[in-house]
Amino acid sequence: MGKKLLVMTSGGDSPGMNAGIRAVVRTALYHNLKVYGCRAGFQGILEKDIFPMDASSVANCIQRGGTILQSARFPAFAEAKVRAEAIKILKKQGIDYLVVLGGDGSFRGATLLEKEGGPKVIGIPCTIDNDIIGTDYTIGFDTACNTALEAIGRIRDTAFSHNRNFLVEVMGRNTGFLAIDVGLAGGAEYILIPEVPITTEQLAERIQKRTRAKLGSVIVVAEANHPYRSVKMADDLHRLLDIEYKVCILGHTQRGGTPTLLDRKYASIMGAKAVEALLAGKSQKMLALQKGEITLTEFPDPAAGYRKFVDDDLLHINEVLCDVKMDR
Ligand code: F6P
Repeated sequence: MGKKLLVMTSGGDSPGMNAGIRAVVRTALYHNLKVYGCRAGFQGILEKDIFPMDASSVANCIQRGGTILQSARFPAFAEAKVRAEAIKILKKQGIDYLVVLGGDGSFRGATLLEKEGGPKVIGIPCTIDNDIIGTDYTIGFDTACNTALEAIGRIRDTAFSHNRNFLVEVMGRNTGFLAIDVGLAGGAEYILIPEVPITTEQLAERIQKRTRAKLGSVIVVAEANHPYRSVKMADDLHRLLDIEYKVCILGHTQRGGTPTLLDRKYASIMGAKAVEALLAGKSQKMLALQKGEITLTEFPDPAAGYRKFVDDDLLHINEVLCDVKMDR
């Protein structure tokens, strides 16, 4: 009897997920697997929201943002009894393989699922934060960067016209990958990221030491686990410097939108390779981009306790280009 593969998207969505789903489904069909999808990640398994997919199920989705399978964060999956119930449901369906498009939390759940008797699992790293250890790239990052960059371009136009200053807050839960790339490419005066903490007082001091008169400026602020933090920062800068900073929080606009070529391309390759890896007997691994090559690697080890670091060089280059020096 043909083996059965289930594909799901889990955690925060990211542009390019649909290209990944499409590649998984079509590659699995090409290799004569029976394909199923489930709605909203692990939650969908528990809700028995599992359905067959064919080649047409993924037609006309490659250019769409979001995920046609929908997604969810499902903390209850950390409980052994919830996973046991999921395994029972998957066994009943006869699911042999699972491809999860998501982040490290989703991979942790999927690994436990396999270890406890569930299907063999391969992951595709998807998050706009680009913060998954073991891969230089995660699906959605390029689109999110370009969305933010376009917004900054628009803000720069009006900032210049009115000689105004802006704080533009970009996403990035614990890391500044998005902020650095977008800030550098957007010509931001400063880029504030959690990896290089700086107080508003320190920032104000540096702004005061500016050597060049500016016709409007943009400071890029990573949300750093405190969404909307730039609102207070703007108030504080006003108090300290008597300069008005307008605030623009890009928020979830960065999570949606038509995926870029890069995201569609990597998602397509990773989707196809995920299925081929399972057929080759591999599991409990994720696809990764490492030094320009797409490869199969271990899931991030939660016990390792290290994090992926932003490229210090990029911060330095930005300081040179904007003629500022941050203490680090
Ligand atoms: O991890 C991706 C991300 O978009 C982060 O940048 C952000 O902090 C978080 O998800 C927001 O999560 P939610 O959509 O659940 O509010």
